[in-house]
Formats: sequence, structure tokens, C-alpha cells
Amino acid sequence: MKMLKARLIDEAMRAREAAYCPYSGFAVGAALLTKSGKVYLGANIENASYTPTVCAERVAFFKAVSEGERDFEAIAIAGAKRGEEPQGLFPPCGVCRQVMAEFCDGDFKVIIADGGEGTALNLAEILPYGFGKDNLTDK
Ligand code: THU
Repeated sequence: MKMLKARLIDEAMRAREAAYCPYSGFAVGAALLTKSGKVYLGANIENASYTPTVCAERVAFFKAVSEGERDFEAIAIAGAKRGEEPQGLFPPCGVCRQVMAEFCDGDFKVIIADGGEGTALNLAEILPYGFGKDNLTDK
């Protein structure tokens, strides 16, 4: 897990270099690991109209899912002001958590670049009451 954490954080840092964030100046990179061992990168992409902005995590997920991937192990996320290093806990936004929950179980690992060894959290910890397919079926 230690190796995995370090490697995925490195990939997220690399992805972060491509962030398009002229409005917030906050650059985020994500590296999503599939159960088969492939890594999909994502960076945040902002828009002058603001609301079309997409987070790095969702870019990584949508790239992977649109390539046919469905089984995921972990995601590493690195976020900080452009030009600064990630420091402290930067948690993924609620919309991204909901997207993760669509494809991942509660034990999916969310690894956050925190300037140290990285913090690994379970999806279940950070999205305890997510809306899921079970909520759509009649009981
Ligand atoms: N952002 C992400 O990429 N991921 C998150 O989980 C939270 C926020 C981006 C969106 C926007 O471009 C910038 O960070 C500031 O909110």
C-alpha cells in the first residue's frame, strides 16, 4: 500500500501540471488506478462561464469509464494553488464523491497528497450517505 500510495501520488502530481485553472488558480491532478493495474490521469478544466468547470477526479473517472473501465482500486488527488505544493488534507468535492460511489464500493481508496506520506481514506468514510442505485428501486 505504501508503494502504491507514493506511486499514485506521483502520477497525480504529474497530471496536475496539465490543470487548466485560469479563474481559481487552484490546480488539481488525479490518478485513478483500475483493478487491472491501468492508471488514468485527470486535471481540473475550468471555463469562463464557471459552471461547466470539471474537477480532476471526474475527468479521470470519465476518461476511464468511457474507455470501458468499470473496476477501480484507488484514486490519488493532488490539489493546491498553482505554483504551490499540496499541503494538508484536500478532500474531493461532494459531486466527485458521488461519481466515485457510482462505480466503487465503500473500500475504494481515496489517497490525498498532503505534503507528507499521503492520507488514504475509504470512500465509505467520506461519503457515508451517498445516493445510489438502490434508492431508485421500489421497496
Ligand atoms: N477542484 C477539483 O478539481 N477537485 C475537487 O475535488 C475540488 C475542486 C477544482 C475545481 C476548480 O477548478 C478548482 O478546483 C477550485 O474549486
